[in-house]
Amino acid sequence: PQPSAKLLSGYTIPLVGLGTWKSAKGEVGAAVATALRAGYRHIDCARIYQNEHEVGEALAAVLAEGVVKREEVFITSKLWNSDHDPARVEAACRKSMEDLRVDYLDLYLMHWPVTGNPGPTVQPPLADTWAAMEQLVDKGLVRTIGVSNFSAKKLEALMAGARIQPAVNQVEAHPYWRNEELRAWCAARGIHLTAYSPLGSPDSAAVIGRSADVPSPLKDETVAAVAAELGKSPAQVLIRWAVQRGTSVLPKSVNPQRIAANLDVVGGWELAPEQVAALDALPLQRRMVDGSFWVDARGPYRSTAELWDE
Ligand code: A2P
Repeated sequence: PQPSAKLLSGYTIPLVGLGTWKSAKGEVGAAVATALRAGYRHIDCARIYQNEHEVGEALAAVLAEGVVKREEVFITSKLWNSDHDPARVEAACRKSMEDLRVDYLDLYLMHWPVTGNPGPTVQPPLADTWAAMEQLVDKGLVRTIGVSNFSAKKLEALMAGARIQPAVNQVEAHPYWRNEELRAWCAARGIHLTAYSPLGSPDSAAVIGRSADVPSPLKDETVAAVAAELGKSPAQVLIRWAVQRGTSVLPKSVNPQRIAANLDVVGGWELAPEQVAALDALPLQRRMVDGSFWVDARGPYRSTAELWDE
C-alpha cells in the first residue's frame, strides 16, 4: 500500500498525487490515464486549470477498464475566487463534479483567500463561503473540505467560526520554500498539509508571469548530490523529501516516463536522516508562487505580506 495520511474527516489521502496545474488540454487526459495505470491513486484538479473536462474523460475511461475503482482514487477540486458567493458555491462544485464525471469529490478546497473585490475586507467574507462549503459535505457531494494558500492566521480565523474544521491546507512546499512553521502549526491541529509545486514548478514562469531565471530546487547541487548517493533523480529526492515529512505532494508531469518515475518513491528506499537534514538546511528560501497577482492598493491585500500574514 502507498503511504497515506488520515484526515480530520476520517478519510485517508494517498501522499503522492498527480498535479494537473499547467497540464495542457490535449495532454492532461493521457497524463491522468498513464498515472492511474502506473498506480497513482490521487489526482489534484481545480476549476481554474480549465482542463477538468479532459481529466474526467480519462478518469471515466480508466474506471471503465476496471484497473481501479472510483472509491480507490482520491479526487480533489477547488472553488475558484469568482465563486465565493454562498449562492454560487454548490453550482461551482457541481460543475467540477460534472466535468470530472464523479458523483462525489474526495476533497474540495477554497483555492485562495481571495475574491478579487477591491476594498478593505474580503467580500463575501471567507467564513460565509466556508459555511456554504460545509453544506456540500452535509449534502454528500464532498467528503472532506479544506483550504489552499491560507496562512496560519487566516486558518485560525476560519476555524473559529467553522462547524466542520478544514482538514487540509494546500500550499507551496519544497526545499527552497519549506514552509516549516506553517506545516508544524497545521500538524499541531491535525490539519494535513499538501505540498504544491514540489519540483519548484519550472513551467510556471510564463503562466503566472514570474521571472524564469530564479533558482530551481531541481538544479540544486545538494539535491543532486543526495540523488547521486541514492541512485535516484533529483525529482525523486524532492518528492521523497515531501513524503518523509508527512505531507502529501503533487508533482505535475505530462511525460509518461516522468509520471512513472515520480511515483517510484513510495517503497524500497528512503532518505537518510543526514540527507533530510542537508535539504532542511538549504539557506535559500523563496516562493515560486508569491501571490503578487492578488495585491491591490485598494485592499484587501495591499502587499504580499498582507496576503501571507508575514
Ligand atoms: P513535464 O510535465 O514535461 O514532465 P511542479 O510539479 O513543481 O509544478 O513541476 C512541474 C514541472 O516539472 C513541469 O515542467 C514538468 O515537466 C517537470 N517535471 C515533472 N517531473 C519531472 C522529473 N521527474 N524530472 C524533471 N522534471 C520534471
